[in-house]
Order: sequence, then C-alpha cells, then structure tokens
Amino acid sequence: MSFIGSIDPNSDAVSCKHGPSECLGNIILLCAAKEYPDVKMWLGFANCMISDYPHIPERDLVESCSMEHGIDFSKLNSCISDEGEGIGLLRSSMVRSQENNVTKSCTVRLADEVRCIRDGGKWYDCPGGSSVQELVGDVNELYDERNSWVIVR
Ligand SMILES: *[C@@H]1O[C@H](CO)[C@@H](O)[C@H](O)[C@H]1NC(C)=O
Repeated sequence: MSFIGSIDPNSDAVSCKHGPSECLGNIILLCAAKEYPDVKMWLGFANCMISDYPHIPERDLVESCSMEHGIDFSKLNSCISDEGEGIGLLRSSMVRSQENNVTKSCTVRLADEVRCIRDGGKWYDCPGGSSVQELVGDVNELYDERNSWVIVR
C-alpha cells in the first residue's frame, strides 16, 4: 500500500491531491499497517475506513474501525500524532510510488509489475484481465510457482 503525492525536496513537507485531510487519512492507514503488520488486521481496518471514505479522517470513523478490527486506538493515535513518524511513513510511501513510476490511483502491482490501473472510473493496462477472479488466479499461480521445490537427492 503506497500513496501518491508531492514531496517537497527542500523540507519534510508533503501534499496530497485532495488536501491535508487526504494526507491524514493516508497516515492513519499507514500507521495501522505499521503497528499491525498482519495483513488480516491492517487490510481489514483499511477496508473499513475506505468503505466510508467521505468520513475519513473523522475520529468517530477511526475509532469504530479500530474497535471492529482489534486495533488499539491509542497506539494508532500515537503513531499518527508522533512528531515525524506518521508523516515519515507517508513520505516514504510517496517516494516508493515515484520510484516505481506510479502516478495513477489506483495502480495494482503484482510481483513488481503493473497488473491493472483503475482511473477515471475504468480499468486499463490489465494484461491478465480486470476481474477479481483473474487477479486471484494470477496470485495463486505465482504463489504455486514460488512454492514448488525440486528435491534433489
Ligand atoms: C521509471 O522510469 C524511469 C525513466 O523512464 C526508468 O529509468 C525506470 O527504470 C523506471 N522504474 C521502474 C521501476 O519501472
């Protein structure tokens, strides 16, 4: 999960297309992923937040999604409000997007390659198709490839 934004090379300032509340929302999601690296936790939390995105970053939403996904709100809050930590996570995530030439949100990447882009309400650059089943199929195929072993005796 990486975000897109502008990075000021001369300071630690960053900016987001839809303004400071979008940056704060991104920081909240990155802090959850850092504090709860188990994908079932942070992704569940992220989906909860994103499914109600007009209310990001309101405290009530953050609290209810935290409660629903077993996330300690005070732990999350200290990452968000800690001088530097949350903003540092956002900045590194923006750098990662830039390094990978990602300029559209949402860009889905699989095994270091662009798998699909959704922008302006439609999918494009989806070599293997844009359906959920096709993506899941590709993930499973890669998983099997990487977990097959030749046993040499
Ligand atoms: C990003 O674009 C630059 C310039 O075209 C290229 O040199 C670089 O290899 C690209 N990086 C990735 C990860 O595709």
